[in-house]
Amino acid sequence: MSLSVQLAPKHHSGLLLANPVMTASGTFGYGTEYSHLFDIQQLGAIVCKGTTLEPRDGNLQPRLVETACGLLNSIGLQNIGVDALIREKAPIWASWRVPVIVNIASETIDGYAQLAGKLDGVAGISAIEVNISCPNIKAGGAEFGANPESAAEVTAAVKVATSLPVLVKLTPNTSDIAKVATAVAEAGADAISLINTIKGIAIDITSRRPLLGNITGGLSGPAIKPVALCMVYEVAGAVEVPVIGCGGITTASDAIEFIMAGASAVQVGTASFTNPRAPLDVLEGIEQFMKKGGINNLTDLIGIARG
Ligand SMILES: Cc1cc2nc3c(=O)[nH]c(=O)nc-3n(C[C@H](O)[C@H](O)[C@H](O)COP(=O)(O)O)c2cc1C
Repeated sequence: MSLSVQLAPKHHSGLLLANPVMTASGTFGYGTEYSHLFDIQQLGAIVCKGTTLEPRDGNLQPRLVETACGLLNSIGLQNIGVDALIREKAPIWASWRVPVIVNIASETIDGYAQLAGKLDGVAGISAIEVNISCPNIKAGGAEFGANPESAAEVTAAVKVATSLPVLVKLTPNTSDIAKVATAVAEAGADAISLINTIKGIAIDITSRRPLLGNITGGLSGPAIKPVALCMVYEVAGAVEVPVIGCGGITTASDAIEFIMAGASAVQVGTASFTNPRAPLDVLEGIEQFMKKGGINNLTDLIGIARG
């Protein structure tokens, strides 16, 4: 049985994953935090927390609110900064079998290019995921992902600055995600991941104030799964490059739905907060599903629901 997937078929070195189960940025730290809980080397890939040029403290507390079947967060890209990541995290990743993908974010196009340049050639880093979809920072982030032109500009700038495979992560907070995906693919993205969180708000009726320090946040978890699945379906129908599905994936059957909709791989996010082993459980469940159904190649399932 083969679960391996190629996420950058047009890239000179490619991005071959042993299986399609990845972690979602911001929900699995730098991977090291989870390594005592299960064998993280078994996963397809690990995507680390969004990384910026300078370290960031993130937004005002409170930054997390639970909702019905979901989670609102307004972390605001708290992270150690790219230089510390290269110094302290990459050497650990270099000894791992599982590929690590660095998620990057910036307030300017030049900032994205600088980040990509710094990460180029660093041992332990297998690819870059360009976050043009963070709803929780004042400038940049989701602004770039909201329209096809700026999304393409960021993608092109990152591609010029690095020889690593480039994944671009899209925001659902746009009027036509397929158009953004098409522009990003034309600008050279090796793969497209989606979705990031959906902008949301919660209000404390006693204090009569928003619950999040940042007022708005991003909704994730099971509540967003049908929306994410629909967007993955639309994007997979619009682009030739591999699509990575994300949004509310909690079980193997969730993941298989995304794969059948056209995703070549999946990312498990919020589910890791309630069950740290969720990515591994999802992987084991996919294996069982394939065994039961006599499916030898995971690639046979990709897009099968599209008819
Ligand atoms: C606490 C938290 C932090 C996140 N941080 C990032 C981030 O730094 N970069 C990014 O691209 N996405 C970030 N995300 C979005 C997730 O990677 C994912 O796209 C989203 O949560 C939807 O997937 P899920 O429903 O499985 O969590 C974050 C999500 C959460 C809940």
